[in-house]
Amino acid sequence: MGKIIIANFKMNLSLEDIKKYIEIVSTADPDRFVVCPSNIYIPYFLNENYKVGLQNISYASKGAYTGEVSAVQASSMKIDYTIIGHSERRQYFNESIEEISKKIEQATSNNLKVIFCIGETLDQRDSNKTEEILKKQLESLMQKKSKDIIIAYEPVWAIGTSLTPSNEDIVNATLFIKKECQNYGFDNVEVLYGGSVNLDNIETLNSIKEISGFLIGGASLDPEKMLKILKVTR
Ligand code: PGA
Repeated sequence: MGKIIIANFKMNLSLEDIKKYIEIVSTADPDRFVVCPSNIYIPYFLNENYKVGLQNISYASKGAYTGEVSAVQASSMKIDYTIIGHSERRQYFNESIEEISKKIEQATSNNLKVIFCIGETLDQRDSNKTEEILKKQLESLMQKKSKDIIIAYEPVWAIGTSLTPSNEDIVNATLFIKKECQNYGFDNVEVLYGGSVNLDNIETLNSIKEISGFLIGGASLDPEKMLKILKVTR
């Protein structure tokens, strides 16, 4: 089977764009293509039998948490996945390792598969702290069920910047993540790469055997590009 492709729309696209998207990107690859739109658009994709993921989930199970969506609710909608710990959530919403850990707990105990994002900033990379940071972020995994968790290695400096690490750097980070996960009893964890994946670099990135797929932001917004990326990674 080809690589897993996660489309993270973030806070983009209008209803009109969404309808056009669904028309262009058919559900030909439902086993490996997951769309994460803004929550309000989710029913459109579910009606078309897409695999759908949330971009975030509440750490609480229910109650007075205005604006939040719980894993219990997502599961009742037959949503398959949720992204947790995206660097934009960590940066703009101050998500802590403890909070992220609770979110992972909520998701896995409600049958949602987790796309757990980790990655270093440029400063951290320049001061040779990448492995230390990845190790720290992976602490959110403690005592979780491994089979429901996929790790997305997303260097913060590569997100939305057109910069990507070398294939060698991605392989090294991926092998480090897999080794660390084994310490938590997670064997054969799947690791995705995310950060400025686009049509120009997808063939090069796709040659990395150690990764299981890609988390794609900017390039996923264009349905024609998405179709081409799905083809290359098939
Ligand atoms: P990008 O975003 O592809 O636009 O760099 C990736 C992400 O934030 O998941």
